[in-house]
Amino acid sequence: MLKRPRRIRGNETIRRMVRETRVDKSSLIYPMFVMEGKEGKEEIPSMPGQYRYGLDAMNFMVEDLLKAGVSSVMLFGIPSHKDELGSSAYAEDGIIQKAVAGMKERFPEMYVITDVCMCEYTSHGHCGCLNGNYVDNDSTLDLLAKTALSHVQAGADMVAPSDMMDGRIGTIRTTLDNNGFVETPIMSYAVKYASSFYGPFREAAGSAPSFGDRKSYQMDFHNIKEGLKEAFLDIEEGADIIMVKPALSYLDVIRRVSEEIPLPVAAYSVSGEYAMVKAAGKLGYIEEDNIICEMAVSTYRAGAGIYLTYFAKELAGFIQEGRIG
Ligand code: PBG
Repeated sequence: MLKRPRRIRGNETIRRMVRETRVDKSSLIYPMFVMEGKEGKEEIPSMPGQYRYGLDAMNFMVEDLLKAGVSSVMLFGIPSHKDELGSSAYAEDGIIQKAVAGMKERFPEMYVITDVCMCEYTSHGHCGCLNGNYVDNDSTLDLLAKTALSHVQAGADMVAPSDMMDGRIGTIRTTLDNNGFVETPIMSYAVKYASSFYGPFREAAGSAPSFGDRKSYQMDFHNIKEGLKEAFLDIEEGADIIMVKPALSYLDVIRRVSEEIPLPVAAYSVSGEYAMVKAAGKLGYIEEDNIICEMAVSTYRAGAGIYLTYFAKELAGFIQEGRIG
C-alpha cells in the first residue's frame, strides 16, 4: 500500500501541521444586547448564559471579552420606548448611541459594530415603517440612514444593516459620506434568510412582529442564487463585508458566496443555534464544548473569514488552549 492517509493523523503535532482550516480570535465578533433604563444584567430565558446588559454591566462584560482576546462586538439595543416609526433607533440619546459612546470612551481598543434595524424599536416589530400592513421599503431608507449616522456619530467603528430593505446600503453609504464618514465600513447582512432560528433573539429583544412575518423582506430559505444577487447588489452599493445568516444550516450558501464575491464573508451563528446547543448540552445529549468547536470550524471551512457567535468568549478560550486553531 503506497497511500496511507493515516500517516498524517499519527499525533497531535502532525494533525495540527496539516490542518486545512485555521481559526483566529481576531475573526470573532460577539453579539451583545444592551438595555435602556436598567442597571445590572438580565438572563435571557431561551439563551442561558446570555444577558441583556445595563450600561454598567456592559462594561464588565467588555472587560472579560478583551481579556479573552475578543476585540469586536456587535451591539443590539433594547429601548424603553417603542413607536410606529422606531424613533428610539435614531435618537441622539438612544440606548445604542449611549452604549457606543460609553464603550469607546472606556475601551477604545474594542471594535464596536452596531446592528442597524428598526425591529427592536417599532411598536409593531417589523424592520421598517408600515404603509397599511405593508413594510414600506423606500420610506424606511431614510430612517435607517439616520440610525446608522447617529451610531457613527456616537463613535461606532462599523455599521451593520440587518433590515433587508432594498437599496439601504447605498442610502447609508451616501449619508455617511455626506457627513464626512467616508472611512467607516459597512458590513451588510446581505444574505439574510427568513429563519425560525431567530426565535430566541426575538424573545431577547422583544422584537417579534406583532402581525405577519418577515418573508416579504428576508429571503426564502429555498434559494441560493437570490443570495448571490443580494450580495452583488450590496457590493455595488458600497458594502465592505458581506454576511450570511444563519450559519449552521447555510454552509452551502457560505461556500457559494465566499467563492463568488471578492469581499470578506462573515457568518452569523444565530440565537436558535445557540439555544439548541445549550439545551442539548444541559440534557447531556451532546458534549457542548466539542459541538461549539465543530460548529465554528465548519463555518470557517465553508468559507467564512469572520464569525459572529454568542460563543465568542468560549471559542477564544478553546483557541487559546489549542483545542482548535
Ligand atoms: C434584526 C436582527 C435579527 C437578528 C439580528 N438582527 C432578528 C430578525 O431579523 O428577526 C437575529 C440574530 C439572532 O437570532 O441571533 N433584524
